[in-house]
This record gives sequence, structure tokens and C-alpha cells, in this order.
Amino acid sequence: MRLLVTGGAGFIGANFVHRTVARRPDVHVTVLDKLTYAGNRASLAPIADRIEFVQGDIADAALVDRLVGGADAVVHFAAESHNDNSLADPWPFVQTNIVGTYALLQAVRKHEARYHHISTDEVYGDLELDDPGAFNESTPYNPSSPYSATKASSDLLVRAWVRSFGVRATISNCSNNFGPYQHVEKFIPRQITNLIDGVRPRLYGAGHQVRDWIHVDDHNSAVWEILQRGRIGQTYLIGADGERDNKSVVQLILEAFGRAPDDFDHVTDRPGHDQRYAIDATLLRTELGWEPEYRDFRKGLDATIEWYRENESWWRPQKAATEHAYVSAGEQVI
Ligand code: NAD
Ligand code: TYD
Repeated sequence: MRLLVTGGAGFIGANFVHRTVARRPDVHVTVLDKLTYAGNRASLAPIADRIEFVQGDIADAALVDRLVGGADAVVHFAAESHNDNSLADPWPFVQTNIVGTYALLQAVRKHEARYHHISTDEVYGDLELDDPGAFNESTPYNPSSPYSATKASSDLLVRAWVRSFGVRATISNCSNNFGPYQHVEKFIPRQITNLIDGVRPRLYGAGHQVRDWIHVDDHNSAVWEILQRGRIGQTYLIGADGERDNKSVVQLILEAFGRAPDDFDHVTDRPGHDQRYAIDATLLRTELGWEPEYRDFRKGLDATIEWYRENESWWRPQKAATEHAYVSAGEQVI
């Protein structure tokens, strides 16, 4: 199989490419990645000679047409992915997440390639903290931020290209990922690298918001299942029953560093902050028989902390600029 992976130098895409190279020697992988601030070639360095890497933009229709023309299947991870950045400047989100997905859809339509679209549970908006429910495949779209609105838009384009043009596509909407190679702007790696630097973790507002954490390898094992056995036109939600509030995640990280449970700062809350995400992955589990491997959040978190301790050269170049951007955006201890 000739597989085109967009965004393969980003967090989830790089883990997907590593997994594919390790487990599927029959698959030839081409990565298309623009190498924005979030893309890092170093994430693919250990397997550089096993893949083809093309630096380019998914919104470049001619390039995308050529690459999709040489592929049997496309897995589309590339995106602007950070909510806080989408509040500061939504335009790159509209351009990459919507226009970029459009260019890919036109190419898979023309070349009749199989297409899997990576998306987020944030398209469904948020749940109240005391709501016992969870998102499922029929939950109405109700995105809150420019990031989630552009991801929702891209999902709807995919649905329309399936219905109108017969594109052979599947969609997955996954909950919050953690694991190696995640950019230090995101919640868990930010706190880990702060503590390595002797800086207190920073919790937005009271820290009561809940995220449904899944290890990135479990996300990617589900993507492979859907790519191979998913029903065309179907959306699958991916989650591993990993609900935790932000404060308790910070406290687990503090514990792993031998620090007191109150050794963190509350900082300015995110405007429009989604309260709770929770996934009901029954369809994925029953129809495709998928099960997560990382059932113990603390073990997965400890392994992730270990990875950041051992791979300082990977994250160090981004750390100071990332923290500076948060301060410039107005983040203050409250
Ligand atoms: P990331 O920000 O770490 O990586 C994104 C990658 O896309 C980077 O390598 C970047 O260089 C590349 N990219 C950005 N714009 C591009 C463009 N115009 N053309 C080509 N490449 C471009 O993101 P991530 O966390 O790995 O997320 C990957 C996908 O998974 C996204 O679609 C995101 O919406 C989705 N997702 C993420 C999470 C999560 O918790 N991180 C959860 C669910 C879904
Ligand atoms: P994030 O990793 O940005 O993912 P998302 O916005 O997609 O859920 O944030 C996860 C949660 O952590 C979210 O509720 C915001 C919160 N958060 C903090 O409390 N402190 C931080 O420094 C960051 C980056 C996020």
C-alpha cells in the first residue's frame, strides 16, 4: 500500500508514522508536512531512511494532486491544532483546516484514493461538568472555538464529498491525546517541561475542566483499524474512558516530580473555555473490536514524563518562545 500521511511531522502524525514503519513493512509512507512551528523533522529522524518526506502545504492543489495521484490511501492529520492560537489569530486555522482539507478532498475525488480524516471531539462543543452523558456519533455539532469550528467545517466537507461525489472516506473524532513528541504548548508537555525547568505548572482558572485523555498509540491503533475495516462514510469516535479534571492531572505530574500537590499557579482562564469532553466509543469497540492498550493513565503519564526527561534536545528549542507567546497573549498568575 502507498500511504500519504499529511501532518506526519506533528505530534499524532509522527507517532502514526513510527507505528506504521514498525508494524507494516508492506506500506510505503510518504509524509506531506509544511513544517509550521508545530512540525518537527527531528520527530521522524529515527526512521528518516524508511519514509519519503515532502515539505509542502496541503492547500497547494498542484502538489497535493501529484502526491495523491501516487497514493492508494491518504490519512489526513495536518492541521492548526491549538485552541489558544486560534483565539489569537484564527486565519491560519481557516486556511489549513478548511481550505487545505478541500484541496485534499478534490485530489482524492479525482484519483479515487481511500481517505481517512482525523478530527477531534471538540466539534461537539462541551458538556456540563455534572452531565452524566458523553459524545457519540449522533451528537449534534456545536463547536466553541475557531479551532473546533474549522475542524467541524472540514468534517462537514468530508461528509459532503462522500455523499455528492462518492469519495471513499471515513472520519474519526478523538479525545485529548498525550504521549511523546507533543509540542510544549499543549497542557501536559507544558507542565512537564515547566517542572524540568523548576517552574510551577500553570492551571487555567480553577482547573475544574475535564478532558478525556487517551494515549497517542491507542488513537493510532484505532485509526489503523478504521482505515482497514471501517465502513465508508462512517464517523467513529475514539476514546479510552480517560476522564480527568485538569487540576488532578497537574497533581499527578507534581507527584511524579516529588513536589507538593498545591505547588502550581492558577493563571488567566481561556476565553470560552470548554468545560468537559467525554467520548462514548461503543461503536468503535463493538463494530471493529478495538480496545485501548494504555488503560492505566498514571503509567502512561509516567512514561511520557520519562520521555520528556530523556529528550530535552527535542523540545528545548521551542520552550522559551512558547512561554513568551503565552505571556504576550496576556497570561497572568491570578
Ligand atoms: P500538531 O499541531 O502537533 O501537528 C500538526 C502538523 O501539521 C505539524 O507537523 C504541522 O507542520 C503540519 N501542518 C500544519 N499546517 C499544514 C499545512 N498547511 N500543510 C501541511 N502540513 C501542515 O497536531 P496534532 O496534535 O498532532 O494533531 C493532528 C490532528 O489530530 C489534527 O487534525 C487535530 O485536529 C487532530 N486531533 C488532535 C488531538 C490532540 O489531542 N492533539 C485530539 C483529537 C484530534
Ligand atoms: P490543551 O492541551 O490546550 O487541549 P484542548 O484545549 O484541546 O483541550 O488543554 C487541555 C486543558 O488544559 C484545557 O482545559 C486547557 C487546560 N490548560 C491549562 O490549564 N494550562 C495550560 O497551560 C494549558 C496549555 C492548558
